[in-house]
Amino acid sequence: MSMAVVEEYREVANRAREEHEMLQACTRRLLQTLEEAERAHHALVEETDSFRTALLEHTRFEEEGGFMKPVVELRPTLSPKVEKLREEHRAHRKILDDVLTALRGSGLGPMESSKAPAALRSLIEALIRHEEEENSLVLGVFCDDVGTKD
Ligand SMILES: [Fe+2]
Ligand SMILES: [Fe+2]
Repeated sequence: MSMAVVEEYREVANRAREEHEMLQACTRRLLQTLEEAERAHHALVEETDSFRTALLEHTRFEEEGGFMKPVVELRPTLSPKVEKLREEHRAHRKILDDVLTALRGSGLGPMESSKAPAALRSLIEALIRHEEEENSLVLGVFCDDVGTKD
């Protein structure tokens, strides 16, 4: 074998090693990012699940022991408004259930997993509006009532 051929083979071997090192570095970065994304996804599922529990308790409280009953007793004309809020509770719980099923990725729910983050965002926005409506309803009824009765 001539020196030139030996040199050429050595070049090929060096190039192969360099290429493999480059790909290994890319692989390590990809694996690291994948693990971070998996941890973040797991945290999102856990947090959404905790949020679901908190929301269920909150809506049950409002419907069974909170402001809804006294508001309707004090102001029967506000009954449709309270019913609308109660209906929103049902809608929010359904969306949250669908989001969780989608995030868990079983493929069995009505929502595609890729749609779950956007659905969660719009649920949060809807919840903020819902809570604001409740606050102004409660303030309107109870503060006015205290003011007129005293
Ligand atoms: Fe509510
Ligand atoms: Fe509320």
